[in-house]
Amino acid sequence: AIDFVMEYLKLDFPSALKLLAARAGITLVERAERREAPDEREAVALANRLALRFYRRSLAGDDAATARDEIVRRGFPDAIVESFQLGYAPDRRDALQQNLKAAERHARESGSTPPPPLVAFTAAGLVRDSRSGGGPVDLLRHRLVFPILDEFGRCIAFGGRKLRAEDEPKYLNSPESPIFHKSRSLYGIHAAKRAIIERGTAIVTEGYTDVIACHAAGVTNAVATLGTALTREHARVLRRLCTTVVLLFDGDDAGMRAADRAVEVFMAEPVDVKICTLPDGEDPDDTLRRPDGKARFDAAIAAAVPALEYLVRRHAREYRGKDGLSARQQSLESLLRRLADLGFASMNGVRRGFVLASLSDLTGLSVREIEKAMPAPARRAAEAGEEVATVSSAPSADEDSIPPQLRRAERDLLALLLGFPELVRETVAVEDGHRLPVLEAIAPSSLASAIHRDILDAIAIVADRGRLPVPAETLGECRDTAARRLVGELGLAGVARARDLAEARSLLAEAVTGLDAARRRDRFRRGEDVQGETTAAPPSDATPELAGAVDRLRRLKERGPDVAAVPRVAGTGPPSSRRATG
Ligand code: UTP
Ligand code: MN
Repeated sequence: AIDFVMEYLKLDFPSALKLLAARAGITLVERAERREAPDEREAVALANRLALRFYRRSLAGDDAATARDEIVRRGFPDAIVESFQLGYAPDRRDALQQNLKAAERHARESGSTPPPPLVAFTAAGLVRDSRSGGGPVDLLRHRLVFPILDEFGRCIAFGGRKLRAEDEPKYLNSPESPIFHKSRSLYGIHAAKRAIIERGTAIVTEGYTDVIACHAAGVTNAVATLGTALTREHARVLRRLCTTVVLLFDGDDAGMRAADRAVEVFMAEPVDVKICTLPDGEDPDDTLRRPDGKARFDAAIAAAVPALEYLVRRHAREYRGKDGLSARQQSLESLLRRLADLGFASMNGVRRGFVLASLSDLTGLSVREIEKAMPAPARRAAEAGEEVATVSSAPSADEDSIPPQLRRAERDLLALLLGFPELVRETVAVEDGHRLPVLEAIAPSSLASAIHRDILDAIAIVADRGRLPVPAETLGECRDTAARRLVGELGLAGVARARDLAEARSLLAEAVTGLDAARRRDRFRRGEDVQGETTAAPPSDATPELAGAVDRLRRLKERGPDVAAVPRVAGTGPPSSRRATG
């Protein structure tokens, strides 16, 4: 249940736990000790809050004309200045400290709650000891202030852009603090979260101004890392919200430099990472300002290349000069070594299979050949005689060899069924011209992926009870953890796919045809691969009707005398098929 709530409502573990506890009427008792003293975090947060109010107020001041001019020059709309809470840090060494003193005085006089003490501002990094003596000095002086807000809109840090050519550095950021960790913070996440969830994609740009340019142009799923490459921790934040992360770079060079890291992140976290470079070395602002900007931008995003493919292509280019078998082999070996170094061995089973299948697609070699050529991970544990830990969900050989388009087609169908559970009551056209209920036309056992089989089986079990297989209920019938995780993910993807049930219905027909086509292609390919071998085609390939019935019988048998296992509600298919399966 916790897993599901985390996945479905995109919450972290503690929030999911709290929500469920509240629903179940369970009182949670917080553990007293924490790694960081809670009052220090609290104090730093309060210091940031006071500083934020001060910087925002200062933007209206007489001395802030340069900052306001800069905002105008950059064309930031008022609404953006408001939602990103831009501010100005005055050109004095202790403006923030003076503001703190004024707040303290005010609290004393009015008897209201005093502001946090100066040490909280030091802990937040907003005030620091001056190297040249003369008492503590403000971090930000005469800078345009970009507050860094967390996903709930709380201020966790600041970035300040210089307004004078001679000042250095160009941007000055708050240092790490108990509430600010650069490697997991994303600029703009407060404004982008909703759109990221809705679109299933996050665009990660290079910096503050890129994010603002994107949002101003209506590209509201944009965020930025804070002067670092995308880390695994960033990916962990984003993967709760979406399935695809597009890394956007000004030029090919930057993209190239980031490719390794991007693949590393992709290997470590279950999220698809793509690389996108804008044409002609433009940055998002340049592109979006052109008359055809939005279309040009969208086209670039649509053309983003999966990180893995980007890396593979780059390798291919490197070795293009050399031809001959040994050069090509060398090329492949160095690529595989790179992938091994980047963490291929620790990938979970399904994604590992996916990577192998993609490599096979990209190189024209068989999965088996690639697996054989993949160097073993250099592990000290193995040398010390310990057993090398194997991934818990070890891939079956069959999982590895599923071609990506077949996998995609299966997922498409599952996503629709989970996103629009009413669709299980639909019938779809089958080959010989008549129609069958969708769960009979597509038998779970006919799916290529074991995880997908598990999910479709679970959908069918719920539907057999006469209930709608909404994700929450379907989940409970999955045997496999990976399947349970995928249910939430696909359910959300499915919901996003269509505006209403009518649209979902037409997509269902397409998904079934798409799956059929993907299977045909796969059979054709396998037919070529296994020439000479005799492989009995599974019965499901030949007669969907029978496969559906066999599956249903198997499910009923497995569940035994289950009171909930009543036949499906009437009206879901031709009587003949119901008699056959009932
Ligand atoms: P850029 O130098 O490309 O800045 O750095 P920019 O965002 O395009 O800003 P403008 O338009 O020149 O003002 C990209 C990002 O790298 C980080 C910031 O997050 C910045 O947005 N950065 C850059 C720093 O943290 N410190 C620096 O000194 C420079
Ligand atoms: Mn830039």
